[in-house]
Amino acid sequence: MKKDFVSIKDLSTQEIETVFSLAKELKKDRLKFFGALKGKSVALIFQKPSNRTRVSFEVGISQLGGNAIYLKPEDINPGVRESIADISKTLSRYLDAIILRTFGHDIVLEVAKYASIPVINGLSDLLHPCQALSDIFTINEKLGKLKDVTLSYVGDGNNVCNCLLYAASKTGMNFKIGTPKRYGPNKEIVDDALEIAKKTGAKISLFNNPNDAVKNSDVIYTDVWASMGKEKEAWKRKMIFGKFQVNRRLVALAKPSVLIMHCLPAHRGLEITDEVMDSPNSIVFDQAENRLHIQKAILLMLLGGHK
Ligand code: CP
Ligand code: NVA
Repeated sequence: MKKDFVSIKDLSTQEIETVFSLAKELKKDRLKFFGALKGKSVALIFQKPSNRTRVSFEVGISQLGGNAIYLKPEDINPGVRESIADISKTLSRYLDAIILRTFGHDIVLEVAKYASIPVINGLSDLLHPCQALSDIFTINEKLGKLKDVTLSYVGDGNNVCNCLLYAASKTGMNFKIGTPKRYGPNKEIVDDALEIAKKTGAKISLFNNPNDAVKNSDVIYTDVWASMGKEKEAWKRKMIFGKFQVNRRLVALAKPSVLIMHCLPAHRGLEITDEVMDSPNSIVFDQAENRLHIQKAILLMLLGGHK
């Protein structure tokens, strides 16, 4: 049966370990599994812009010997030109996998339902699983462990924050979230994560004050205040999120060795200052690089060809 990658929730601990170990090998030698996707074609259907996700997937597919096809919003607009079911069934006759970046998470679930080939969530309004998986790989690489590491997320409780909730709870990390009231992460996902955390020992806590969220933290993570699709709210959000900026004063409350993360693109001067983003503690570009290695590992997990 085909396997999709829609949410980190669906990955077992064993699968996370397999992806990490493949990614480590791929990071040492980018062409290690060249040929694993020989004769295979993967489409990227993107309804929102992308630098990292698109380029790292396209490059990764090419390094595995496969063929990547990019379909921009005007090419395939699920539910507009034709139904999601018809698109998914048709594409399943040509392709070996679909990577989808879209708005509503229900669109990802519907494509996954009708496609007979693996579907990878390349970001929806609710989740960004490739990002969060790559982020915990990066933290593990830098700190040598995940269990007992304290990660603090400050800003908007968005798709990245939601996915980090799954990533942290599954791997036993401590996760402190600081958001303005009414901008917290998805309630159902918080409940899910708290349930998962009971088994793994992860500690999850939510705050409406950035200072409490970052105190003694090992890693501080932030993301844009207005995600793609929320651009019209940017001005209003700028007022609401002001005190959640990751700046020198906030960083000083964490451990001196604190690592600074951002999934990028960053709005420098808003959610993060230049000074912090360009500081020696910042690992944002290592984080961006690891998207390539992790996504190749995800493709290998779903499509095989490397054994
Ligand atoms: N972090 C991330 O997904 O970046 P892009 O939107 O550029 O793909
Ligand atoms: N939360 C951001 C992530 C971009 C990679 C967005 O959805 O726009």
